[in-house]
Amino acid sequence: MLFPDYRARRMRATPNFRRLIRETSLSQDDLILPLFAVEGRAVKKPIASMPGHFQLSKDYLVDLAKQAKDVGIPAIILFGVPDKKDPLATRAYAADGIVQKTVACIKDAVPDLAVITDVCLCGYTDHGHCGVVEKGIIDNDASLDLLARTALSHVRAGADMVAPSDMMDGRVTEIRQALDEEGFSHVPIMSYAVKYASAFYGPFRQAAASAPQFGDRKTYQMDPANAVEAIREATMDIEEGADIIMVKPALAYLDIILRLKQEIDLPIAAYNVSGEYSIMKAGEIMGWVDAKEMVMETLTAIKRAGADMILTYSAIEAAKYLEDR
Ligand code: PBG
Repeated sequence: MLFPDYRARRMRATPNFRRLIRETSLSQDDLILPLFAVEGRAVKKPIASMPGHFQLSKDYLVDLAKQAKDVGIPAIILFGVPDKKDPLATRAYAADGIVQKTVACIKDAVPDLAVITDVCLCGYTDHGHCGVVEKGIIDNDASLDLLARTALSHVRAGADMVAPSDMMDGRVTEIRQALDEEGFSHVPIMSYAVKYASAFYGPFRQAAASAPQFGDRKTYQMDPANAVEAIREATMDIEEGADIIMVKPALAYLDIILRLKQEIDLPIAAYNVSGEYSIMKAGEIMGWVDAKEMVMETLTAIKRAGADMILTYSAIEAAKYLEDR
């Protein structure tokens, strides 16, 4: 089709025409809100690197969970910030751990909201790594049992879905087995299958106090240069029993989301991570960009690339924008 027979601007001329030819639609249904839980009452500790986000005690979390539900968000994902850390991440799988107590409380107050829990050890180990450390090395197989115990304890407390983010090999099998054996075969696993070793997690590590105390995460998280490996990681987790495959971060990895969409047939989640949020917030605070337009454009782009759902710190503001549209 060539000009002047085809004029691309004809169908762009009015809002109604634009609505008719819009290829991607973002909705509240697509959003998952990440939240950080701490011990105590009436605790609302600002996360300096993530303006608008806080470490919250369960009373505040219940309020926020209600708000999320009221604006039409189907799910939250919960991260715990424990009081104590040790080499074996004991508080990650304690029945009275921070996530376990908070899940029970939120499910009780807002039963219609899905509560997903992040399953990892890094926030609970004193060394800050996502697995058990033996002689300075992250021991894959020794970590699996602890991860499975953590997932199981979350589900026992009422979690609707578990999301392992540790990147140890074989953890989906181990978690699936542990859940099935206890009669939780109906509880799905959202696997952080394709998780890159990314600088964009910086603000999160402040929020969750989970930065590694030595070295980095490059022996378990993926090299940002790799794409074919993403297919291998996703395929492995699908065979192990994952129900949802996650790509993380989202924005620098839209090509990976698209490739997976074309190659796998499970739902794909994309994590619009802390650094992506913080950079945009900084631009908003400086008055350099239109925050509303930028958030909606970003989330639409992630969806357009092939994500079926998006974990985003902008979930509540985006849901509100969508509501008044
Ligand atoms: C824990 C975990 C991380 C994130 C989610 N789960 C951090 C990391 O791997 O260091 C990052 C989330 C974000 O940056 O928003 N393993």
